[in-house]
Amino acid sequence: MVPHHIAIVMDGNGRWANKRFMPRVAGHRQGLEALRRCIRLCMDRGVAVLTVFAFSSENWARPADEVSGLMDLMAGAMGREVPTLKQNGVQLHFVGDRRGLSDKVCQGFDQAEAQTADNRRLVLNVCFNYGGRWDIAQAADRAAAKGLPITPEGLAAELSLAHVPDPDLLIRTGGELRVSNFLLWQLAYSELHFSDVLWPDFDAPHLDEAITAFAGRERRFGKTSAQVGGVSADPGASVATST
Ligand code: FPP
Repeated sequence: MVPHHIAIVMDGNGRWANKRFMPRVAGHRQGLEALRRCIRLCMDRGVAVLTVFAFSSENWARPADEVSGLMDLMAGAMGREVPTLKQNGVQLHFVGDRRGLSDKVCQGFDQAEAQTADNRRLVLNVCFNYGGRWDIAQAADRAAAKGLPITPEGLAAELSLAHVPDPDLLIRTGGELRVSNFLLWQLAYSELHFSDVLWPDFDAPHLDEAITAFAGRERRFGKTSAQVGGVSADPGASVATST
């Protein structure tokens, strides 16, 4: 079964560039190519929602030229990519803290969201100046401002990805085995797939490998294997764990 919602930590751009004696920004530029390819592949495979981590709240701590390179890349991508995405039925959302971003970038986000709002083929969430802790804190703030009690359902409704169901599959490239303050709340029951491939090299076989691995997983959402009709649903499997 193809995951409805895939989230990706696109890691390894810097190492891809270092290996070629290129500046890190060149790796990010190639990373943007890989993202373009991945969007097309997700549409081909029938994925409905793709969420990518493009710039984290913590990325501001990187060298100034890398930060400005990423900002320029984003501003440039707005102009170049949005018309194509619009034509191809992609609905864009920019998710993250707008404070600290330039007016030019914020206006680009607003225009791209407005221009693609009626598209239905693929929802693409670009997390930019995003952090999972920031998201939970801003959701709590918004719930409190409305005088709502802080409950899981109430908070979930205020999170920045409230317009889509939680990710079914998280892919992280680049060989690191961590979540790095990505969708901390929304990943509660996501299946995790880690790939050693550096993001600029990520292509169809790697995406298909992740989707195939996902299809082989048993998702239990806290229930037992027997309850969800899994293969180990025989009496001897009554010790099935509930993860
Ligand atoms: C992590 O690789 C990647 C990022 C911090 C940025 C991801 C950005 C893109 C894929 C380009 C598309 C984004 C925009 C702005 C349109 P890393 O730099 O941490 O790589 P490393 O672990 O090898 O150093």
